[in-house]
Amino acid sequence: MTGLKTTVKSVIFTPTSKYLENISLMSKQLFSVTDARGLSVTGLSDTQIKTYDQILLDTYHYVPGTADELKSLLEEAPEFVLGNVLRGYSTMTDGSVSGKTVAQGYLENATKLTSGATPRERLHIAALGHWISGEHEARNAVWEDIIGKWPADLLAYRQLTGALFWNGDKKRQLAAAVQTLPYWSAEIPGYGLFLGPLAFALEEAGRFGLAERYAREALEINSTDLWSLHALAHVFEMQGRSTEGEAHIESVADKLNDYNLFRGHIWWHLALFKMAQGKLDEVLGLVDKEIYPGTSNFYLDIQNAASMLSRLEFQGVNVGDRWDRIAKASRETLSDHTVLFTVPHQAMALARSGEETHIANALDQWMSAGSNANGQSLLAAKVAEAIADFHLGRFSDALDKFARLRFELPDLGASHAQQDIYYQYMVMAAIEQEDIPRTKSLLRERIANRAETEADWTEARARLAEIERVESKAEAIMMLRRGI
Ligand SMILES: [Fe+2]
Repeated sequence: MTGLKTTVKSVIFTPTSKYLENISLMSKQLFSVTDARGLSVTGLSDTQIKTYDQILLDTYHYVPGTADELKSLLEEAPEFVLGNVLRGYSTMTDGSVSGKTVAQGYLENATKLTSGATPRERLHIAALGHWISGEHEARNAVWEDIIGKWPADLLAYRQLTGALFWNGDKKRQLAAAVQTLPYWSAEIPGYGLFLGPLAFALEEAGRFGLAERYAREALEINSTDLWSLHALAHVFEMQGRSTEGEAHIESVADKLNDYNLFRGHIWWHLALFKMAQGKLDEVLGLVDKEIYPGTSNFYLDIQNAASMLSRLEFQGVNVGDRWDRIAKASRETLSDHTVLFTVPHQAMALARSGEETHIANALDQWMSAGSNANGQSLLAAKVAEAIADFHLGRFSDALDKFARLRFELPDLGASHAQQDIYYQYMVMAAIEQEDIPRTKSLLRERIANRAETEADWTEARARLAEIERVESKAEAIMMLRRGI
């Protein structure tokens, strides 16, 4: 899931007098050096480019503190065009509406440097501008233009593949990875960071064997390359290999907390593997210790925690007052998330917080925003409405709404594994109405994405046969527990 937070927090950049003095000299000819993959980079010395090369690798390895390191580099080299762009990208990646003001500052800095910038850097400046303006298609097209001309541009490649994840555009993710594939080889610095998005895109396309091969190749280079680890976790999830998935993540568990907040999603995957094996107490323990241990307004934390608590409740687990902190974070960030897959999760928390006014106010706000914005906003509002209906006991309404939307739901972004929460709600709504035929029908649909090879198809057919034998609520809930 990237489009994912690559830094822990937005760091608001406050220019120092030295910075302002330097930036006033921007009319001078800017100098340029070559990065680790041979691309011209404007505004850095031979020593500083090495620092940037490392920052770029660390950013996409989810190493904490890259924002501060880049901020220091920009203090030394304010004419560093891509440094300003990367700070803008990272701020936008954090996924808050309020972050746009900060990103705008970096865009203005970069724009002042346009005359001395290379054609590639000018395109990056344009992409950041489109992003801040909400022109996602134009932004994606610019990044595609960049990787078409400069396939070594890791910055454009990672930003594009990450953004497409939240746009719900899985085919285009794979297209981007294949577009740059001829350029890459093991000798090129950052090769593992190319492989991760390729593996993930293949997995979401249902090509699990190839996805596993490339994810493992990346993990040979770096066993805690989180995006490649994540791609492999998805392969395990989609093929029902929960014990392998659990063992693999646990083999690197002692290193996970060395990374930034994206690590929470890896813990979420471990919780899914444990849930599939019925280890529900351990799942609850992971929620408390790793997935949502404190208070967090970060969109991915809200998604991970809310979807896991809903899954646990569907399995009959009493989660106590654990919804309260997520509901509070949801109220505080109600319309501040630019990643709209967050909205259904905020709706879960608000509907479960016990205050009907909270969810009613939120629905008004989301529906109003959705009526005046792009398709994702309206879709998010409609899903939130269905979730609210479910938690308010209006199971028939919830199921009707979900059923009408169900083939559009991938447009809201995220992975098949994350999107399974929609089917969890639909199946539970059918169960609550004691409608076993509808329950079985939805359970069958739910596994439609999982068959690639003959073996997968045989496994899927076996699962379908099991679904046919479902006769009770308990048996249906057991099918949900086992994952997609
Ligand atoms: Fe995931």
